[in-house]
Amino acid sequence: MKSLIQTLVETPSPSGYEKQIREVVRTEVLPLADEVRVDNLGNLIARKGQRGTGGHKIMLAAHIDEIGIIATHIDENGFVRFLPIGGVRPRTCPGGRVRFLNGTLGVIGTERLKDAGKTPSFEQMFIDLGVESRNDCPVKVGDMAVFERPFVDLGQRLVSKAMDDRIGVAVLIETMRQISHSPHEINFVFSVQEEVGIRGATAAAYGLDPDIGMAVDVTLVGDTPNGVKMEVGLGKGPAIKVRDGGMLSDPRIVDWMVQAAEGADIPYQLEVLEHGSTDARAIQLTRAGVPAGCLSIPCRYVHAPSEMVDYDDVQNAITLLVELLSGPVDLG
Ligand code: CO
Ligand code: ZN
Repeated sequence: MKSLIQTLVETPSPSGYEKQIREVVRTEVLPLADEVRVDNLGNLIARKGQRGTGGHKIMLAAHIDEIGIIATHIDENGFVRFLPIGGVRPRTCPGGRVRFLNGTLGVIGTERLKDAGKTPSFEQMFIDLGVESRNDCPVKVGDMAVFERPFVDLGQRLVSKAMDDRIGVAVLIETMRQISHSPHEINFVFSVQEEVGIRGATAAAYGLDPDIGMAVDVTLVGDTPNGVKMEVGLGKGPAIKVRDGGMLSDPRIVDWMVQAAEGADIPYQLEVLEHGSTDARAIQLTRAGVPAGCLSIPCRYVHAPSEMVDYDDVQNAITLLVELLSGPVDLG
């Protein structure tokens, strides 16, 4: 599975430009699904199974887009100014590298700062493509790039610039592979434009009109030196979301997930996240409302170019999802 993860995280696809990653995912899910389609926004929807006795129409979502940058201006010497796409923090940028969708590589430089100890703003940064003038510049205004960092396998821990949320994508694909029987119609949604405001899942949830919804995405951890005050840590199991900045998970969904984890002896953690949200928020609030929850993969350094997850957490997330989806659900 590590090679699937590597392929997913190294395929460049920032928000709104998910074509490359969508093709990778399509190739993986075609032999596993009963039906695969792409909606008007670019969400890839793979359906598996039909509703039987005690069955529901379930929507699972993992977003295929990643954070990146967009070129806003090119000066006469060929230096490119840019804006962030999604929640990029300026302090993670200087000295980094980016890859435009046409393959062009560049490095991020900064202007001379009055206070060298301060983080430069985006206006004080530029991308140097190694060219001498605007005429030689292979990038034009509006072109998009992602951060360029190779996948790193540390053994137990895996590192990439796009664990958010390609690790969720990998979990959904493996779940689809492992699930052999289910009373449910399961719609695996590989959603677009999550990082710019949960836009893809909003349209997909409306279109599907599911009975139950769940996102699989990364969450922050509190287990690094002087980090955020948070109970979730790496290697202690996938996290069952109770609350984040945009959603209170449906308590019935939380109970369902906790019972399944305890019944099958799968380690899990309960997640209370201060800021940020996931596709689950869009599912919960679509139409007249949907019972929704979220299974989170604990992740260090989210939205930095080296996001770290634990391989056991990934495996346990798949085991828990297969367990959840293999039997009937009674939300009472
Ligand atoms: Co994110
Ligand atoms: Zn995410």
